[in-house]
Amino acid sequence: MPSHPITTSMAPAPAAVIAIDGPAASGKSTIGHAVADRLGYLYYDSGLLYRALTWLALREGVNVDDGDALAALAARTPITVRPPTRADGRHSTVEVAGEDITWDVRRPEVDANVSNVARHPAVRAALIDQQRRGAADGRVVMVGRDIGTVVLPDAPLKVFLVASLEVRARRRYDEMIARGQPADYQSILADMRRRDEIDSLRAVAPLKAADDAVTVDTTGMSIDEVIDHIVALAMGAPTESRPLPGEVRAE
Ligand code: CDP
Repeated sequence: MPSHPITTSMAPAPAAVIAIDGPAASGKSTIGHAVADRLGYLYYDSGLLYRALTWLALREGVNVDDGDALAALAARTPITVRPPTRADGRHSTVEVAGEDITWDVRRPEVDANVSNVARHPAVRAALIDQQRRGAADGRVVMVGRDIGTVVLPDAPLKVFLVASLEVRARRRYDEMIARGQPADYQSILADMRRRDEIDSLRAVAPLKAADDAVTVDTTGMSIDEVIDHIVALAMGAPTESRPLPGEVRAE
């Protein structure tokens, strides 16, 4: 018999906040959503804020090279990202001033302009508090480019997902075709290459792995393998789970 009472605090508790970053179509949204689902957590896709602001700027004719004008637009227009309000395949609902623009933010003109919008420090400053509020109650999986480095630097689990450019372009192509959208592989590939470059080279909050992130290369992995692995990491079992091929762990 143990000499002291066994308390429930000995049960493993998953990491309360999980930050998942990575380049375009590296699997962040599919995997982040599934991990959140398994753990009963909120799923928060920060890219939707940048996409919504881009969509709004295009509609209002605000210059995507003018950071101050974009930040002012963000300040005067409420952008909301919340759990799905309709069961039409969406992982989140995106609204600007109450208007549902969930599918509009996936349009090619948004893809083509979003990284230009997101590179402005004033835009990032205007959107960061909203992201932090989204994680304030814990039990959240937040996905993006700078979640582990800038938005939630204290997150107990940070994952950086990578995959080859060709695999990512193919995934995005398949996703668009499945949604019934017109898609051209070569132009998706070119857009992604350009977006990765802008995201990685920008001066503020560039796309990069946090020093304490676990990098997972999903190129040769199934979605379920990646999900299982991240859930195991979240349950605090990093030393029990075998590192996967292509995985680099911070010391
Ligand atoms: O779905 P996909 O991975 O293609 O992109 P996304 O996550 O929806 O993000 C769209 C764009 O928003 C990115 O290419 C970045 O330029 C920007 N973004 C960012 O700068 N910081 C974030 N935390 C999330 C997105």
